[in-house]
Amino acid sequence: MESLKVVFTKDQIQNKVKELGALISEDYKNEDVVLICNLKGAFIFLADLCRNITAPISIDFIATTSYKGTESTGDVRIIKDLKIDIRNKSILLVEDIVDTGYSLEYIIGYLKLHKPRDVKICTLLDKRCKRLVEIHIDYIGFEIGDQFVIGYGLDYEERFREMNYIAELCLEG
Ligand code: IMP
Ligand code: MG
Repeated sequence: MESLKVVFTKDQIQNKVKELGALISEDYKNEDVVLICNLKGAFIFLADLCRNITAPISIDFIATTSYKGTESTGDVRIIKDLKIDIRNKSILLVEDIVDTGYSLEYIIGYLKLHKPRDVKICTLLDKRCKRLVEIHIDYIGFEIGDQFVIGYGLDYEERFREMNYIAELCLEG
């Protein structure tokens, strides 16, 4: 049996995205920035966030995989690469959620091989209590506890991404 418990409503998320957009717009007002969306989980967050940024941006996508069911495997792989040449560019990596931090650590290392000017991180959700590697995150939407959440881009076995709110998924039995 599955049940859903609301964690963040549509309005709470939209307000937070506006707040983050305003902060990012201010910080990058004199600078071109490339938003890199880590697929698939961050696609809806990216779509809303980019429309709340007034600074000059370009957008690219990278895809990684590490999850099986509700557990991170720590074995991160890139399954879709960047198209834009990021050498000497300012990068803002957009994530749905940071859990152990393994994915982020791997992606940051990968991006740095391309010699960008600067790499900053924006995540909608921070599951800080599960962190296994220390990573500085520049923009955080909400901190959450040790719970498995879905919706607003986040999935459980590819389901629930289309929901406009975030819920905890409780699996019983
Ligand atoms: P990490 O490598 O352990 O930090 O895992 C990060 C990735 O795992 C995220 O980008 C998500 O795709 C996925 N993930 C972690 N926690 C959750 C969750 O609660 N719900 C859905 N996906 C999650
Ligand atoms: Mg992800």
